Amino acid sequence: MLTWMDSLKGRSLMRLTSFSDEEMLDLINLAAQLKARRAAGVRGDLLARKNIALIFEKSSTRTRNSSIIAARDEGGGAEYLTRPDIHFGKKESVKDTARVLGRIYDGILFRGFSQQTCEDLARYSGVPVWNGLTDDYHPTQIFADFLTIKETFGSLKGCTLAYVGDGRNNVANSLMMGCAKCGIRYICCTPKELIPDAKILAEADEVARKNGVDIRVFNDPKEGVRGANVLYTDVWVSMGEEDKAAERIKMLRPYQINMELMRATGNLDGKLMFLHCLPAFHDFNTEVTKDCGALEVTDEVFESKYSKVFDEAENRMHTIKALFVSSLCDRKNV
Ligand code: CP
Ligand code: NVA
Repeated sequence: MLTWMDSLKGRSLMRLTSFSDEEMLDLINLAAQLKARRAAGVRGDLLARKNIALIFEKSSTRTRNSSIIAARDEGGGAEYLTRPDIHFGKKESVKDTARVLGRIYDGILFRGFSQQTCEDLARYSGVPVWNGLTDDYHPTQIFADFLTIKETFGSLKGCTLAYVGDGRNNVANSLMMGCAKCGIRYICCTPKELIPDAKILAEADEVARKNGVDIRVFNDPKEGVRGANVLYTDVWVSMGEEDKAAERIKMLRPYQINMELMRATGNLDGKLMFLHCLPAFHDFNTEVTKDCGALEVTDEVFESKYSKVFDEAENRMHTIKALFVSSLCDRKNV
């Protein structure tokens, strides 16, 4: 028997502050239940007759596929819509598109550039809208990260997470607030040019204090990671910032997660894991990273026993499923 709070029914997720601390923890708990249920071979019908629109302006492997399979596993459907597929923002305003899709679909997951677009979709569609990544936030990622930490360490409280890299990107912003909400110490190791936005930091700091933890920013990664249990990084160049690649690579080289940095935690023989939202530049060249070798993480760390990145990637599906279920499913029918 699945149990969850029903307060998220009909609600949107714009960023992690959309949910209370308790609701966030409850959603992670529901994801763990759904994961166990799937492992036991149960394909349910919690999302039967529910249709979800996936509006994607940026590329995606995990978020897109997790959403499709999450819906399908529970008897629902998801339709993948990119900008060239629909009139969105070209021949038709976001407001009108929202009102049309809201009449047809039960929910909308949006991945794109502007946070405002996501908020406008929620405002005008009349159905739950979930932020699947914008330039500012990536809230659904954090549910998967924390489910992975919980599975590995047994609990979230008492952990110290050190994020090393671009301290003001979408993942870092959401991770900082997620840690604050769930009672995890958040350490941000980043160059002074990339420190978190003051307003976003202050907002998270207030929540962290209420939950008895602190947030700290270090320019020296070796000093910052001391005592950390989770080392987390993300790409140095986020989608939409490709023109900054050369500058970022130069700036962030000292922030690469390698074995030396893992050792600097002092926890190599204790409680330690490596997380990355993926995709990761650990061992190959691309158009963006020609001849640069490994960037934000070495292959040695990525492939090590500390690395839980594929559990984390799988958990995107279970947590997105929990999000869809808690927003769309009537608990009375379970
Ligand atoms: N972590 C993540 O959001 O991956 P995708 O870009 O593949 O969706
Ligand atoms: N910060 C990255 C996250 C990718 C999942 C980006 O926006 O490209």
